[in-house]
Amino acid sequence: MKTRIRKMTFEDLPRITEIEEEIFSVPWSKQMFEQEIKNHYAFVITNEENNDLIGYVCGWIVLDEFTITNIGIAKALQKKGYGRSLVRFIISALIKEKCFKFFLEVRSSNILAIRLYETFGFKSAGIRKNYYQHPPEDAIMMKLDFFSLLEKDKKQKDQEQCFHYTSIDNKVIKGKNSC
Ligand SMILES: CC(C)(COP(=O)(O)OP(=O)(O)OC[C@H]1O[C@@H](n2cnc3c(N)ncnc32)[C@H](O)[C@@H]1OP(=O)(O)O)[C@@H](O)C(=O)NCCC(=O)NCCS
Repeated sequence: MKTRIRKMTFEDLPRITEIEEEIFSVPWSKQMFEQEIKNHYAFVITNEENNDLIGYVCGWIVLDEFTITNIGIAKALQKKGYGRSLVRFIISALIKEKCFKFFLEVRSSNILAIRLYETFGFKSAGIRKNYYQHPPEDAIMMKLDFFSLLEKDKKQKDQEQCFHYTSIDNKVIKGKNSC
């Protein structure tokens, strides 16, 4: 299926609230989505051929930090890669706006969503006890910080380079590098 990601509009809300009620035990109201549209970071993924709505993602930006507040894919279309497309889209859109820190909260039992976020580099940043209702459940706070990822990557590259130079001098360093 060919898909398209575009800004959420008020006309999308009847279908979005339908999906929301289908996939969440505590669904968001139409008014909550209206607020997200006004915040400018609300997007939908649609079937390009018939314009059917597949799913949505939204969030808030505060300074250089973005919080994904909601993401959902219609029940019948889950596990086909559309959620991944939305997460990839929102991260790249925000990076273009020089925002490099991302946050979200997820039910501790929502393994599929947690795995999806982890594949983008999100890590657990703490637990909010009994954050959710129906059923009561802890929230896992997750964070993706591109600065620390880059920093880690740079450190690793520096260490590799350091090992390379010492090898040229025939000083074989065993174990931990001393750089
Ligand atoms: C969570 C949700 C947004 C993910 O979207 P999706 O389109 O269903 O997921 P995708 O098909 O993009 O899968 C993304 C990843 O999820 C994981 N995943 C998908 N199917 C899976 C399965 N059957 N078992 C385990 N993990 C699975 C994989 O890591 C997958 O990565 P891959 O594409 O490399 O295999 C969607 O399932 C949904 O709307 N769920 C209900 C609402 C919800 O829980 N929202 C999140 C609140 S934080």
